[in-house]
Amino acid sequence: MSKVLVIGCGAVATVAIQKVAQNHETFSEMIIASRTLSKCQAFAEKLNSDKIKVTAEQLDADVVENIVKMIEKHNPDVVLNVALPYQNIPIMEACIQTKTHYVDTACAEVRDHAGFEYGTQWVYDQKFKEAGVMALLGSGFDPGVTSVFSMYAKKHYFDTIDTIDILDANGGDHGYPFATNFNPEINIREITLPGRYYENGKYVTVPALSKKHTYPLAEIGHRDMYLMYHEEIESLARFIPEVKRIRFYMSFGESYLRHLFALQNVGMTSVKPITFQGQEIVPLQFLRAVLPDPASLGPRTVGKTNIGCIVSGKKDGVKKNYYVYNTCDHQEAYKETGSQAVAYTTGVPAMIGTALIAKGIWKGAGVFNMEQFDPDPFMDMLNKWGLPWKENFDPVMVPDDEN
Ligand SMILES: NC(=O)c1ccc[n+]([C@@H]2O[C@H](COP(=O)([O-])OP(=O)(O)OC[C@H]3O[C@@H](n4cnc5c(N)ncnc54)[C@H](OP(=O)(O)O)[C@@H]3O)[C@@H](O)[C@H]2O)c1
Repeated sequence: MSKVLVIGCGAVATVAIQKVAQNHETFSEMIIASRTLSKCQAFAEKLNSDKIKVTAEQLDADVVENIVKMIEKHNPDVVLNVALPYQNIPIMEACIQTKTHYVDTACAEVRDHAGFEYGTQWVYDQKFKEAGVMALLGSGFDPGVTSVFSMYAKKHYFDTIDTIDILDANGGDHGYPFATNFNPEINIREITLPGRYYENGKYVTVPALSKKHTYPLAEIGHRDMYLMYHEEIESLARFIPEVKRIRFYMSFGESYLRHLFALQNVGMTSVKPITFQGQEIVPLQFLRAVLPDPASLGPRTVGKTNIGCIVSGKKDGVKKNYYVYNTCDHQEAYKETGSQAVAYTTGVPAMIGTALIAKGIWKGAGVFNMEQFDPDPFMDMLNKWGLPWKENFDPVMVPDDEN
């Protein structure tokens, strides 16, 4: 039986925390530590039971020393970081100092520069090795399940993989003209970056949201999918070395893009500080403050998400295509956890990665990506914990020229 320290108590954490509490065969104790204590206390009151002990703590996870003290106080087996990408590095540092396993759901970022590269976390590999513990990077849906899907395809259906197209579509409607489904600051930073894909050993960069393809998705119909950069492109290229091309697409509706472009054009998505009435503010952080809190979208979001990977390659010399995906219903996710499907599809895999480490099924010392472990136990747990997946052996392929 294991003890987990969950850091962060926002939209994704809301799901991860409840899934940890449901998985009392693995977890007997959970400490929820975040910036706002009252949110952690509300979960501790609701979930504390004779099956799992849940306690709440206040924590500023920007400061390594605070995290070290929190880990030393509770001595968890594993730390699940579902705060923001800005906290990845301080939490990793604290895990090295205290010799504690680490899990996160998104690549590290710094506040004053939009962009992300796994290199900033891979450099900690030697230190985690020396500490004799592991860091598992990107155990959300994308990144996370998309990497596991790709490795499952490789293990069971392909000798060599030529192409991977990751399609992340949200067919949900929350009724607002503009809102983001997870942290608005992190979301908008990611979407406004130039698009980037991997081809023949190199990255090809294109202007943000400049490449579109309309794709027919199971259970949610045709969606406009836009090419973007996403961190699993980097880890998939590293761990499937023969792959020739990896692309990532996300769906956006017309209203979302119209608002995004207008906000971008007037400078509201900038991460460069400005002076306003004598005070320094970051426009994107101000925008975040006026947008709906993603955690509040649950009751009003209807429809489904569909996220998956289309893989092409060869088996026994024969060319083949394969598509593996999950669909998740916003209202069903809300009924179970009080959160919509975007938080649900991230929080469930965050718990699964943490549980696989806690049980010693995925183990090692160093910094690891999802691609480095046997995908089968993770795939089984997706079916068990609320994200069942489906396969299609004759998928519609995304064309080479997607414009
Ligand atoms: N891989 C995937 O599929 C995927 C998908 C979506 C999101 N994500 C990742 O999931 C993570 C959580 O996203 P979210 O939408 O849940 O964000 P969110 O709703 O904004 O929640 C973030 C939480 O972190 C807390 N926090 C922020 N700064 C902190 C600090 N310095 N010390 C302690 N706690 C701090 C916040 O505290 P307050 O409550 O006080 O604000 C909040 O509880 C992000 O890293 C995001 O990139 C991954």
